[in-house]
Amino acid sequence: MTVETERLILRPFLKSDAGDVYEYLKAPTVNCFASMKLNSLREAEEEAEKRAEDTEYYFAIVLKESGKVIGEIFAYPEAGEPHADGQMPRDTFSPCWMLNQNYTGKGYAFEAAHAFFDYLFKQKGARRIYAYTEDYNTASRRLCEKLGMRCEGLFLEFISFVNDSNGEPHYENTYQYAVLKKEWR
Ligand SMILES: CC(C)(COP(=O)(O)OP(=O)(O)OC[C@H]1O[C@@H](n2cnc3c(N)ncnc32)[C@H](O)[C@@H]1OP(=O)(O)O)[C@@H](O)C(=O)NCCC(=O)NCCS
Repeated sequence: MTVETERLILRPFLKSDAGDVYEYLKAPTVNCFASMKLNSLREAEEEAEKRAEDTEYYFAIVLKESGKVIGEIFAYPEAGEPHADGQMPRDTFSPCWMLNQNYTGKGYAFEAAHAFFDYLFKQKGARRIYAYTEDYNTASRRLCEKLGMRCEGLFLEFISFVNDSNGEPHYENTYQYAVLKKEWR
């Protein structure tokens, strides 16, 4: 599956994207992606190969003009709370987005995320899309707001991605944002 916007193409990964993937994952800039850190081009090749297996929900964000992979966006269908009759439709998605830091601040994340949300709502049966973002991540919070997502709450010391210098869990305060299909314009 490929989604096209004015300046970008969202497409499944190729093994040959490894160099670009390594560029943005050799030093993740936020704690929530610390576990995705890649230590070599070899590891990036393995990751690109894994990503390439998913052609429905895991997309490379590619600059039309150069073909460079400048980041990625993905989300998988999740079941919400079970209904009274026990049904658990997988109509909920929580996207992750990440750009190469050399390409931020140019509106690419909004362009990619808007197209991805449109794809999930219109083609993949999404009813609700939600995002978690740490309280200090102003870029990601602003992106959620720009996408028309409502801030649903702030969870204090919600999660720990890294340990502090004493080896103790470093807890993060996390905002939850969401948008429903009926709210999507
Ligand atoms: C989050 C991320 C994808 C946003 O990318 P981006 O290129 O800055 O996004 P855009 O250029 O589309 O900008 C979206 C909005 O956020 C604003 N913004 C971007 N960086 C900002 C910052 N540091 N502080 C405040 N606002 C910021 C932009 O100005 C824009 O709003 P505007 O149109 O009102 O001016 C990018 O910063 C990133 O990859 N961060 C690291 C990974 C990450 O944090 N992922 C999310 C984990 S929850």
